[in-house]
Amino acid sequence: MHHRALGGVLTTLLVMFIPVTTGGQRAKCRTLYPPYAITADEAQYVSIPHAEWTWDGRMLASKHSNGEGSLEIFRVRMNPGHGWPPHRHFEADEWIYVLSGAGTYNYWAFEESAPTELSIGPGHVLYNPQGQLHKVWNNGSEALLLLSISKSLAPFEVLDDWPDTPGGGVGYVPHVAPWELSCAPGHEVGEEEEAPKSADESEPKFPLGEKLYDGSPLSDEGQREL
Ligand SMILES: *[C@@H]1O[C@H](CO)[C@@H](O)[C@H](O)[C@H]1NC(C)=O
Repeated sequence: MHHRALGGVLTTLLVMFIPVTTGGQRAKCRTLYPPYAITADEAQYVSIPHAEWTWDGRMLASKHSNGEGSLEIFRVRMNPGHGWPPHRHFEADEWIYVLSGAGTYNYWAFEESAPTELSIGPGHVLYNPQGQLHKVWNNGSEALLLLSISKSLAPFEVLDDWPDTPGGGVGYVPHVAPWELSCAPGHEVGEEEEAPKSADESEPKFPLGEKLYDGSPLSDEGQREL
């Protein structure tokens, strides 16, 4: 590992250790079942400060705050000269919709050190299969705004200085994704309040459902007997 790579890893570890060591626990959040409407600016704010790459945005939906069945929808902003370094999501595919700005999208074929680079702009849809190493960077002169949509953005692995250190051994996987450190507005659990149970233990979302799907055979008319 050469000097620059080591520097990158140390910076990364330092940045990631701040949230991880200072009470870097997953916050316990309340899942809101009734329909609700918020603007993106009211959604959970998430940022990663880093010496070489910074991004911030609004987590419009996450499994952490919205329950296991939720999609994860992230509206991210990358300022000129910043972006997502090479990284991959371990648990699910990701779609990215470019809202505004201009940038580059790189992906690496399996074990290839040279990426394919595409130029991206408003209206482009990018598809990253689960585990696909990819990078998104703002090489324009205004903010690059994206919508990232996935069944599960975390856990992810960032290969900060890929491909300077081929082999991928320098990546890190944050123990807690930034949006898991706190709850989305309105999803916080009061101090005195007991943390909500996980989706599996909690009361059925629609109690009637138990009756509707009790496994009883269909009647002659083809109607389920209630
Ligand atoms: C950004 O990168 C793309 C793809 O390499 C390139 O076509 C475009 O000219 C670049 N934009 C700027 C402003 O350098």
